[in-house]
Amino acid sequence: MRVLDRGDQLRKELEAARAAGATVGLVPTMGYLHRGHGALVRRSVAENDLTAVTVFVNPLQFGPAEDLAAYPRDLARDVEVATRAGAGLVFAPPVEDMYPAGPPGVTVHVAGADDLEGASRPGHFDGVATVVAKLFNLAGPCRAYFGEKDWQQLGVVRRLAADLSFPVEVVGCATVREADGLACSSRNSYLSPAERQAATVLYRALSTAALAASAGECDPANIRRLMVNIVAKEPLATLDYAEVRPDRLLLAVRIGTVRLIDNLGA
Ligand code: PAF
Repeated sequence: MRVLDRGDQLRKELEAARAAGATVGLVPTMGYLHRGHGALVRRSVAENDLTAVTVFVNPLQFGPAEDLAAYPRDLARDVEVATRAGAGLVFAPPVEDMYPAGPPGVTVHVAGADDLEGASRPGHFDGVATVVAKLFNLAGPCRAYFGEKDWQQLGVVRRLAADLSFPVEVVGCATVREADGLACSSRNSYLSPAERQAATVLYRALSTAALAASAGECDPANIRRLMVNIVAKEPLATLDYAEVRPDRLLLAVRIGTVRLIDNLGA
């Protein structure tokens, strides 16, 4: 395992690997790796000769009132998890390496991402698209792995890769869940035991609505109401949004102060 902290090192390592005939898999993360990340890394390891995991808490995608400073970080543990999952490289740059002149003068805006997460977190997807564009530029031709838990983000990244002609195949991977259905997320570490229990409301609401849809309920307003009612019954939960999109149910809920998102096929 090699741990790199400079973009030019990453570029050189991956260029050298490809020159020697290797295929490259890229797993962009903000660290504090959990089983969901482990599944992305293992999928990449199965499909590529060399897997690089990036660990970078990207300030651009946090709003002024969000949890940037408090976002959980543990690089030593991340390196261990990535190594166990079979990655060959971890790229963990400091902010000054990614944004040497401060906030970048050039950012990427992907059209059509202004609703749901885009509406609740203004500027979030510009931050995501900008850092992912930088990572794709540094990595060069590769497959890049993203979780379906961040459903809207996956769409943004696919559009980014296609519209800007990055030589990157974007691979979406199924959400990894705890035994009670809670989607794995670094933010779950903020939950108190009571909040952790309450957080199961997201999966309960989504799976009840998905069941109703598969049993023939086809009015999106009724499906949405099912989710809203289930969330309303959980005292520690506050709904941010519940949406029904073609073939996808999406939820954002605050459990105490922790904002969680999840989604399920309808
Ligand atoms: O999903 C994440 O962890 C981040 O949004 C990403 C894609 C690594 C960009 O910072």
